[in-house]
Amino acid sequence: MVEFKIKDLSLASEGKTSILWAERNMPVLVKLRERYIESKPLNGVRISASLHVTKETAVLVRTLKSWGAEVYLAPCNPLSTQDDVAAALVDEGINVYAWRGMSSDEYFWAIRTVASKNPDIVMDDGADLHVTLHEEHPSIASSVWGGTEETTTGVIRLRALEASGKLKYPVIAVNNAKTKFLFDNRYGTGQSTIDGILRATNILVAGKVAVVAGYGWVGRGIALRLKGLGARVIVTEVDPIKALEAVMDGFDVMPIAKASRIGDIFVTATGNKNIIRAEHMMQMKDGAILANAGHFNVEISVEDLERIAIAKRRVRKYVEEYTLINGKKLYLLAEGRLVNLVAAEGHPSEVMDMSFSNQALSTLYIKNNRRKMEKKLYDVPLEQDELVARLKLETMEIEIDELTEEQREYLKSWRA
Ligand code: NAD
Ligand code: ADE
Repeated sequence: MVEFKIKDLSLASEGKTSILWAERNMPVLVKLRERYIESKPLNGVRISASLHVTKETAVLVRTLKSWGAEVYLAPCNPLSTQDDVAAALVDEGINVYAWRGMSSDEYFWAIRTVASKNPDIVMDDGADLHVTLHEEHPSIASSVWGGTEETTTGVIRLRALEASGKLKYPVIAVNNAKTKFLFDNRYGTGQSTIDGILRATNILVAGKVAVVAGYGWVGRGIALRLKGLGARVIVTEVDPIKALEAVMDGFDVMPIAKASRIGDIFVTATGNKNIIRAEHMMQMKDGAILANAGHFNVEISVEDLERIAIAKRRVRKYVEEYTLINGKKLYLLAEGRLVNLVAAEGHPSEVMDMSFSNQALSTLYIKNNRRKMEKKLYDVPLEQDELVARLKLETMEIEIDELTEEQREYLKSWRA
């Protein structure tokens, strides 16, 4: 019996069309699916997942199901669910508890629901599910074989849990695979964040001053694409090495206190909190646009914005106009949540192909190695990372060279 709580089951056929569209651009994951479809390596394995419920996630979940897994799916953000996709998944026998616009209580209800299903494997994006299992269901957590974590913020939280000695099962940091962060965080977020800002506002980027907070993998992707569209880009950083890289990549670098006076568009991508606060908002130009690409809605202080505003109204879908006490108007996109998943559709399928191939292969790794894995964070095995890269190149019909035996020997020796 399929369990579900979603917006509208009648959207299933629309969702199916959307999933098939994504599948066309996820050839690596589809290839892996076919490789193991006969042997069903996840037969009877229970997987609880907290992921953005998108068409790309659907391709992953269908793959896990085709390998024999029983999947329970909750969202990892209250505003990112694609309701038609959720309906299509339920129609295919997957247990889904997600709809767009959940309240915070409903969101945590969904997380708790999948946590309570005695999962063998826990798949997460942001670590809300891992943390809920540890805090509220410690005995269930103790019997979990292993987990995976999709994003930088989730890995940071899990490192802290590991350091406290309280991590109850091994977790593979999928985010840290090169075939994940170099592409998903950089090019995926780079493109989809701009997509979200444009769908929400339809502004012209050319000629604007854009401020990107954080020059990590996400920030550099966003800065690169904003520059490509003709913006003058300012980067803010706290890490001197990243700041220097930004300078040498051709960006202006300055503190947020200075940048806030100049910017037309602000995008946060730090994984940190309270990057844009009241003191910055008060000196912004009239009409400045605020968007966030980091995992949680804590980078732009919405609390501060609410406090210094005398009026607030929705002017477009996912655009809130705040009139400040100084008379200026600021525009907050997507309630300060990840703009690429709320106002657009998240990363394009082509990059999620690599991220989710790593997720799928990691479940097989956990199943096969669970008896020898320790309660710690693991990187994706190098062979897996390279396999995903090779398969991606193969599907793009790109060939590369191979080392000759002589070259291999040369690289191993210290004599000239
Ligand atoms: P990262 O660690 O590579 O980069 C974060 C950068 O922010 C670092 O260089 C750090 O020095 C900088 N930073 C921290 N505090 C700062 C501050 N006060 N001011 C300026 N800079 C500051 O991380 P990442 O992989 O780029 O991820 C960033 C965030 O984006 C995380 O929350 C991650 O989970 C999230 N993410 C979102 C998506 C998406 O689809 N929107 C995709 C991938 C990752
Ligand atoms: N994270 C960023 N983009 C995504 C997408 N399209 N699907 C699932 N998770 C995502």
